[in-house]
Amino acid sequence: MLVDGEPRLACITLAASMQGRRIETIESLATQGRLSALQRAFHERLGTQCGFCTPGMIMAAEALLRREPRPTEAQIREALSGNLCRCTGYVKIIESVLAAAEARR
Ligand code: FES
Repeated sequence: MLVDGEPRLACITLAASMQGRRIETIESLATQGRLSALQRAFHERLGTQCGFCTPGMIMAAEALLRREPRPTEAQIREALSGNLCRCTGYVKIIESVLAAAEARR
């Protein structure tokens, strides 16, 4: 999730400490039922495998793309380094973020 625009691990964040903060989750990225460019890129580029890690990956990538609209692969890897994927690896995830960055230009 994003707290005041910064990525944060929801699983270790105490809800009571979030009063008055702006919380964004994966659900907040879609607009009127339409996937965001980043969500669409994960779908189209197969960045989602089982989907377990996908919300965290997308929210971490969203924070990155807001501060760095044209990230390098190294910047993407660094931004996503706190999120683990246990499926087929990170290649499709990185490609998805790069595709989203291209689509948002
Ligand atoms: Fe399965 Fe990442 S898509 S853990």
